[in-house]
Amino acid sequence: MKTVVSGIRPTGNIHLGNYFGAIVNFVKMQHEHQCYFFIADYHSLTTHPTPADLNDNVRKVLVNYLAAGLDPEKAILYRQSDLPETAELYLFLNMNAYIGELQRVASFKDKIRSQPNNVNAGLLTYPTLMAADIIIHKAHMVPVGKDQEQHLEMTRNFVARFNNMYQTPYFPEPLAFSFGEDLVKVPGLDGSTKMSKSENENSCIYLSDEASVIRKKIMRAVSDSGPTEPNQEKPIPIQNLFSLMKIVSKEETLNFFDEQYNECKIRYGDMKKQIAEDMIVFCAPFRERILELENDTAYLQKVLDMGAEKAHISAAQTLKEVRDIIGFRKF
Ligand code: ADP
Ligand code: TRP
Repeated sequence: MKTVVSGIRPTGNIHLGNYFGAIVNFVKMQHEHQCYFFIADYHSLTTHPTPADLNDNVRKVLVNYLAAGLDPEKAILYRQSDLPETAELYLFLNMNAYIGELQRVASFKDKIRSQPNNVNAGLLTYPTLMAADIIIHKAHMVPVGKDQEQHLEMTRNFVARFNNMYQTPYFPEPLAFSFGEDLVKVPGLDGSTKMSKSENENSCIYLSDEASVIRKKIMRAVSDSGPTEPNQEKPIPIQNLFSLMKIVSKEETLNFFDEQYNECKIRYGDMKKQIAEDMIVFCAPFRERILELENDTAYLQKVLDMGAEKAHISAAQTLKEVRDIIGFRKF
């Protein structure tokens, strides 16, 4: 049995990218491994949410985790800020993280572009906090989407550096994991290759979306005027529609529209209607469970209390050993 750690920043509801990139693997892994799945609320502070939004978004992620099938008796579900040992480990890791390597991280460069007036130290050290999350439980595997690959590589660098500096193979080097083997990237509805809430809210379908909303969003998805030659290569927005269809529709449905495309007979309106109906069927059971859970405050708090207690056992043990390795010892 391996140790698994992953988390999602609480920015609101969970979309299909989060689900297929990360959560679907969480749900499967909980049966086979010791799993720690958390809500990364420290990380959220880089974008300065109001206290009410922060709290509300943590709740949404927890509800989505449970609605997706995470079992708090099997996996340890907790809120990052309920485990302040993470912050101490983050401090230690920052002492051996170099400005140059942090500045070269793609997600940091993106943030400089997208929020030029708020380039804070938390953004720069996002990868060290993420590494602390992972190694605090000495994780071997980290289920994440493709966009997190570089962060995982940084974690391995920090681990190798720590182990080398103190001449002890203390932390395992964690690997990104996906059951489909290749890491997943779900495309957006806006013609971009990644469904992303932080980049464009309108590119996302949420597990909690109701049927009429899904229909509206899919019908508005970016397409074009159609192919002009048989077997033409698909432009990105069209490839995106096919990728979304692949996720929710039957194989024969996908093959049918693929043939129509190759024969230049495709009607995107019909294809979108089909995607929308299949998407509605896919999301409906999640939505139902979300509605059931979202007002059960006592249960939600109980889940977090239980998770914090269990996560603390592993984190406290790691911190005790790390302090000793570093040289914070009694005389
Ligand atoms: P967003 O980009 O919408 O803000 P996050 O960065 O909070 O999403 O991602 C949370 C998790 O979901 C990560 O593991 C990430 O890899 C995964 N993820 C997010 N978007 C996608 C996507 N479009 N395809 C696959 N995985 C994704
Ligand atoms: N960086 C991840 C994201 O944007 C969230 C995250 C924070 C995370 N700490 C983590 C994921 C540790 C896996 C492991 O989605």
